[in-house]
Amino acid sequence: MKNLKLQLTTILLCLTVVGISAGQHQPQTGGHAEMKPAIEKAIAVLYPTKGNTVSGIVTFTKLPEGIKVTSNITGLTPGKHGFHIHEFGDCSSEDGTSAGGHFNPSMMAHGAPTDSVRHSGDFGNITADSAGTAIMEWIDPVITFDGPHSIIGRAVIIHAGEDDLKTQPTGAAGARVACGVIGIDDNK
Ligand code: CU
Ligand code: ZN
Repeated sequence: MKNLKLQLTTILLCLTVVGISAGQHQPQTGGHAEMKPAIEKAIAVLYPTKGNTVSGIVTFTKLPEGIKVTSNITGLTPGKHGFHIHEFGDCSSEDGTSAGGHFNPSMMAHGAPTDSVRHSGDFGNITADSAGTAIMEWIDPVITFDGPHSIIGRAVIIHAGEDDLKTQPTGAAGARVACGVIGIDDNK
């Protein structure tokens, strides 16, 4: 009888320990989620670099299959223009070079947005019409709003020329004509 009681006590103790450790996990994730909700939307407002007229807005919206990127850019010369996320959210220099190189947390080669080997920041090109406006929308499977591929606080750069999608590490897209920092926009 004493033995059974001891066994029951041991089982009860074990259950309590399991309960405590499980309980410790749940409030941590729950509390974390409450304090820092997942980012659902981000925005970059693009301003022209010195001597240029390119401006616009790029929005980023989280979807189950990736981040939907919507761009509306004006003041371009007609045709294709390189369009990337660059590593630093710093548009302070006159030529936009303060934004650094292409955002590349995976240390991969430059490529097209549809390539498996690409910089996370490789969005390829936007194409401006005869009026100099480029409107484009697509869903990117690589970029995120958290973790090493997070684009928050980095910069969107539009280039004077076309990204050839193969020249390393820039795509040979030429000068930077517009720059904007990506910020959180969960303003619902
Ligand atoms: Cu670029
Ligand atoms: Zn690149």
